[in-house]
Amino acid sequence: MLQPNPFIITADYYGPEYFCDREIETKTLENNIANGRNTVLISSRRMGKSGLISHVFNRNFIQSNFKAFSIDLYPTSSLSEMILLLAKEITGRFKNRGERILEEFLGIVKSLRPGFKVDPVTGQLVFDLSLGEIVSPPDSLEELFQYLESSETPCVIAMDEFQQIAEYPEHNVLELLRTQVQKCKHTWFIFAGSDRRMMEKLFNNPSEPFYMSCSPLFLDAIDYDKYLDFSQKHFNDAGKRLEEDCFKRVYDLFEGHTWYVQRLMNELYAWTKPGEVADMPMMENALTFVIKTYARTFQEQISTYPEAQKQLLIAIAKEGNAELITSVAFCKKHAMKSPSTVQSALRVLHDKGIVSKIDNTYSITNRLLSIWLRMEY
Ligand SMILES: Nc1ncnc2c1ncn2[C@@H]1O[C@H](COP(=O)(O)OP(=O)(O)O)[C@@H](O)[C@H]1O
Ligand SMILES: [Mg+2]
Repeated sequence: MLQPNPFIITADYYGPEYFCDREIETKTLENNIANGRNTVLISSRRMGKSGLISHVFNRNFIQSNFKAFSIDLYPTSSLSEMILLLAKEITGRFKNRGERILEEFLGIVKSLRPGFKVDPVTGQLVFDLSLGEIVSPPDSLEELFQYLESSETPCVIAMDEFQQIAEYPEHNVLELLRTQVQKCKHTWFIFAGSDRRMMEKLFNNPSEPFYMSCSPLFLDAIDYDKYLDFSQKHFNDAGKRLEEDCFKRVYDLFEGHTWYVQRLMNELYAWTKPGEVADMPMMENALTFVIKTYARTFQEQISTYPEAQKQLLIAIAKEGNAELITSVAFCKKHAMKSPSTVQSALRVLHDKGIVSKIDNTYSITNRLLSIWLRMEY
């Protein structure tokens, strides 16, 4: 039988054997939930927030004590869309459990009754709500929370890509949510987000309604030794070997950033036949191959940028972690026109998330793009 590649690079969760470490973070999340603390989970993109949530929700502690719901707000652009997602996530659990449970739901969530319809094929009552049927989003939000609170089993709700609500046209979504969250007596929340700046603003800014209301949990790179063990074990299990040098090269190059390490290990694992050893030359080839795979994508991406943005992107890629970016020295070194040109190009790239900022250091968010730029220019 074909052995599946154990280095998962999609968003799906395949079980604890494919999930490396995160033991402390798992315990922290479980402790927060067990002790009635809401969590705000922050990291850069592709570090493993969604994976951690799936991992925790999959564990016995949650499975046997809670009802866990998870919504990804990334594709939403209004409070109504958030409500639609939440309502679907909750009612999705009612499948094959008869109509009574749905009736109970709509007994509390009265405002969403228009979603209660007869399926023309089966003749059964089903919940098929559309956006236009959400007439008063704040009322629906309140009722959904009342429903969750009415459950005998306490609920946990993860809202992923939470920073998305900053894009909603309604300006009071945070206040509305905060009011509902505060009323909950046995429903706990995990708010996860990638946009560090936005998440920190939402949760650490005294003028925002969520200020100090959650326990923050920052996700950094997985520990080197643990990641090495995990990787070598998966190679060994398939009768393959992974040289430490080779892993170290990948881990150092991507500073342990999860998805990138996974992506390279996935490739290397596929290249190594049982009985073979993954070594440095193989690793360099795999790296070149992976970068080439995305070259066309990157080429097209940067061809859409104005010259100053492209130049700045190349400059940041060359620096790796760029400091004092708006200084005269930086401009001179990278042949940029002026600090003000850099400033305005930087603002756009940063707002779009193409460039990330930690403290006063800038880097290119997509680490493969960064390497490709260094190779190409
Ligand atoms: N602890 C882990 N062990 C192995 N793979 C992981 C781990 N955490 C995340 N991943 C993988 O890394 C990739 C990025 O993780 P994800 O949770 O989607 O990141 P985020 O939600 O922070 O953007 C996914 O392909 C996921 O399967
Ligand atoms: Mg995610």
